[in-house]
Amino acid sequence: MKKKVLSLLLAGAMVMSMLAGCGSTKQTDAGAGSAAADKGSDSKVEVGVVLPTKDEPRWLQDQSQFESILGDAGFTNQVLFSQGSSATEKTNVETLLNQGIKVLIICAQDGAAASAAVEEAKDAGVTVIAYDRLITGTDAVDYYVTFDSVAVGKAQGQYLVDNAGDKKDVPLYLYAGAATDNNAFLFFQGAWEVLQPKIADGTFVIANSSEAEAVKDKAELTREEEGKIIGQVSTDWDFNVAKSKAESNLTAANESMKGDVAVLAPNDGTSRSIADVFATDKDVTSYAITGQDTEKASVQYVLDGKQSMTVFKDTRKLAADSVDMAVSILKGETPKTDTTYDNDSKEVPAKQTDIQVVTKDNVKEALIDSGYYEASEFTGLE
Ligand code: GAL
Repeated sequence: MKKKVLSLLLAGAMVMSMLAGCGSTKQTDAGAGSAAADKGSDSKVEVGVVLPTKDEPRWLQDQSQFESILGDAGFTNQVLFSQGSSATEKTNVETLLNQGIKVLIICAQDGAAASAAVEEAKDAGVTVIAYDRLITGTDAVDYYVTFDSVAVGKAQGQYLVDNAGDKKDVPLYLYAGAATDNNAFLFFQGAWEVLQPKIADGTFVIANSSEAEAVKDKAELTREEEGKIIGQVSTDWDFNVAKSKAESNLTAANESMKGDVAVLAPNDGTSRSIADVFATDKDVTSYAITGQDTEKASVQYVLDGKQSMTVFKDTRKLAADSVDMAVSILKGETPKTDTTYDNDSKEVPAKQTDIQVVTKDNVKEALIDSGYYEASEFTGLE
């Protein structure tokens, strides 16, 4: 980590001298769709960042990493939020283009809809880096920086499998992310790979998806089959949708679908909503529930035994990788990548980062000792 920070600082210093004359005014978050950035100033924004929403703590983690890493690297800092709207996202991209960005780092609200915005960026000669979520169906994506999302789903599935142990007929409630997010498919794909053999051997019984039930004998699903299941159990990444879906699932469930249950929840925000619903059902005696993002509220839920696990996706690393890439691009070099992702239009060169499972047992080691959070932010830590 130390080495990485040092190389970033050096790279930042180089870029600063290359871009002599460019301002280094520190911009704060310009807010949803705001064009506030540099008005009235002669500073230039070389690297623009567009994130999906401020309403999910996950993206606030990324924002704060970008603000510090971009600042350290000598870039004028510009992070805009799309607030769940592809139209706002496009306006944000246009705002950044007007400010003369050379590199756009964008986490799409909707992976397909974002193609229009990034094509506009590409036409303006800007290099486009898709951040965390792949932008699909366009050639206008130059690079992709991502966590290993299939591994996230596998880790979630594996937690439920390990927790079920030798039990039989454990009711399995499936929930997924937004169908407009390619990651929702990758998470589900990873989870299915691990869960399906355990549905086949009678460990689990699918409790809330006739579409999953229809393909339960298939080890590998097509994108269309995954789409049908996701269409049925999607939370849209929205806490309220997750809550009402869980409520109606439990209302519809008969007694054999209660007792000790397993819940595949796609991320922390939806996990907390769904967990709260399962916790208040008098016929649910215990529930194991997954998550991801190590949002502070979920880390506390894990410590309190209200959420079983989460997945640590170290946003320090992802933001640093993107900024490293931007630095290489601005120096006229080809950024380092280690894999490719097919976005339905091209094989996008990608840099992928590993993930780590977090349970009550390793919160301290994974999140406190690594400096990601402060111990004082939580209660119940040993
Ligand atoms: C995914 C992202 C997750 C989660 C989710 C909801 O694309 O990889 O970490 O936050 O979106 O925003």
